[in-house]
Amino acid sequence: MKEIKKITCIGAGYVGGPTMSVIAQKNPDVEVTVVDLNHARIAAWNDEDLDNLPVYEPGLDAVVGEARGRNLFFSTDVDKAISEADMIFISVNTPTKTYGKGKGQAADLKFIELCARQIAAVAKNDKIVVEKSTLPVRTAEALKNILENTGNGVNFHILSNPEFLAEGTAVTDLHNPDRVLIGGEDAEAIEALVNVYAAWVPRERILTTNLWSSELSKLVANAFLAQRVSSINAISELCEVTGANVDEVARAIGQDSRIGGKFLKASVGFGGSCFQKDILNLVYIARTYNLHEVADYWEQVIIMNDHQKTRFAEKIIQTMYNTVNGKHIAFLGWAFKKDTNDTRESAAIYVADHLLDEEAQVVVYDPKVSAEQIYKDLDYLGTRSPEDNRRLVKVVDNAYEALDGAHAAAILTEWDEFKGYDWAKVKEGMKKPSFVFDGRKLLDRNELNRLGFAYYAIGE
Ligand code: UDX
Ligand code: ADP
Repeated sequence: MKEIKKITCIGAGYVGGPTMSVIAQKNPDVEVTVVDLNHARIAAWNDEDLDNLPVYEPGLDAVVGEARGRNLFFSTDVDKAISEADMIFISVNTPTKTYGKGKGQAADLKFIELCARQIAAVAKNDKIVVEKSTLPVRTAEALKNILENTGNGVNFHILSNPEFLAEGTAVTDLHNPDRVLIGGEDAEAIEALVNVYAAWVPRERILTTNLWSSELSKLVANAFLAQRVSSINAISELCEVTGANVDEVARAIGQDSRIGGKFLKASVGFGGSCFQKDILNLVYIARTYNLHEVADYWEQVIIMNDHQKTRFAEKIIQTMYNTVNGKHIAFLGWAFKKDTNDTRESAAIYVADHLLDEEAQVVVYDPKVSAEQIYKDLDYLGTRSPEDNRRLVKVVDNAYEALDGAHAAAILTEWDEFKGYDWAKVKEGMKKPSFVFDGRKLLDRNELNRLGFAYYAIGE
């Protein structure tokens, strides 16, 4: 079997960047080049100051610091990297389609197809092509068609190797994965990729399957995880009207080893680039095969999640005497979860949008998200003009400034630092009554009540 000496990854985003950094760290004899069309992104990956990497992940700076320049390279020369590689990972974005057939549901595969065409045009020797991006089932077939019809006599082997890392814990997830999944048809190609991971992952955790099982497993893993969040969020609403406490219910059911205790944290709603997109994909595929009950079943997970976000915004409005017009609401957190600067599908965006419809004055503080990104997220919704977004939303780089003079604080992301604030001091600066709406169940109710806050938390 051919030894893998050079790996190229197309796409230097949240998946490609960290994954390739760890592959390079653990395989010092393999040269790994990550390429992207986005020059600014590549420049940031090459920035001498490791604080400026384009992806914020705890521990990533150390991994990049160790491997970069040794056997890890970031470049915009896509053709050169393709032509030199033995193995090519495709790790480009596959957003939900915003136009045409399947709009709002199907994955937009145009970036994947462009990659395949570029590989087909440039490759002069045999390549193993690995799908890393999350894709609808049977995408490998389309890839294969494009690659095999080039007529230049090059052999391509296609593998599916979905990524299961979670943002915020990407480096530990990569260093110590529950499993690595590799789907394919060609035993030698599969073995070549197994060997890359076997440099640090125990063999028994490297699962091999056929292509379609691997592609589908990624969607199903995310659908099951998202379903748990929607399940506990559904119960959170019931807790609020019955006097039960959702954390107590979660603990009680999670002790059952068949249910397990993870992923039972009620919240303002899940976000992130994967959960919604992958379920929409699953729903779309099911509908395509006329499996309407299957499609409806999974769609409900998203309906519940949308309800949770709306419900949180409405709770704020209703509690503040049915009007937030002109009221200053401090948003603590904008990222979709802590320890990441990623805001894709973050609940904060939708909660803010709802409050802005009511002419609230929102002041946002997030330790890792830039003002530019926050305005971009709001403008992307197209709900109101960019001028109105800038009139109604202010972004500050200090939480106390966000909270000073606020009628209410809303916690949208569970950043650890929010717990350590001097809430007594915050209270002094806020309008009275001082409302706190905790969408992450982060703060201590007894303490906040003792300080005189009107405290509302999901599921209590
Ligand atoms: C997810 C999968 O976990 C990962 O395996 C896959 O590769 C990509 O998608 P990610 O989206 O990065 O990872 O983060 P995750 O930790 O799964 O959280 C997703 C969302 O669910 C976040 O908004 C989080 O706050 C929310 N969540 C998670 C809850 O509200 N409650 C929970 O108990 C867990
Ligand atoms: P993910 O979370 O899946 O990593 P990102 O959007 O963070 O998604 O990253 C995908 C990256 O892929 C982007 O930086 C984008 O510029 C890059 N990309 C998309 N298409 C191509 C292409 N044809 N060639 C090179 N890079 C590409």
